[in-house]
Amino acid sequence: MPDRRTSLVAIYPGSFDPITNGHLDMIERGSHLADRLIVAILRNMNKQPLFSVEERMDMLREVVAPYANVEVDTFHGLLVDYAAEKRATYILRGIRAISDYEYELQMALMNRRLRPEIETVFMMAGEAYSFISSMLVKQIIQLGGNISGLVPPTVETHLKRRILGQDIE
Ligand code: PNS
Repeated sequence: MPDRRTSLVAIYPGSFDPITNGHLDMIERGSHLADRLIVAILRNMNKQPLFSVEERMDMLREVVAPYANVEVDTFHGLLVDYAAEKRATYILRGIRAISDYEYELQMALMNRRLRPEIETVFMMAGEAYSFISSMLVKQIIQLGGNISGLVPPTVETHLKRRILGQDIE
């Protein structure tokens, strides 16, 4: 059992390339479950992201600013080692559909094997967000579709600038 005399730290890890309203809903709800929620961006050398880690960090910091107990950080290497270093007891992940389940189960079981003391906690994505993914949002804007309501307004501005080379407002 986690020691409740110390504060409860949870990690919400991901690529966040870029953050969507689905992620934000998870962060909002996750912030009520922990004393400290750390949104941790993976520094992945193998992936070719649309936004640099620093750009993603800036966007995340802006959108989580209203939540006093939420902070943004980056990590590399094993997630469970990062969680242990932060003295986190929980890893928070969202499940949108059955298709997420297999990958999430595999990761949760592997992480448990690596560090049994760290528990992965799953939350169901809000029904209004269960179809949103960073990948689809990028594809839609590239093909001229409307992404308003799918990502925070600041992210929409950044996406339009990066993908369409256009400034809104
Ligand atoms: O948002 P994503 O891209 O689905 O997040 C995946 C993430 C960052 C949670 C996962 O790739 C991860 O934890 N990577 C760190 C490396 C690691 O710990 N690998 C073993 C996991 S079983």
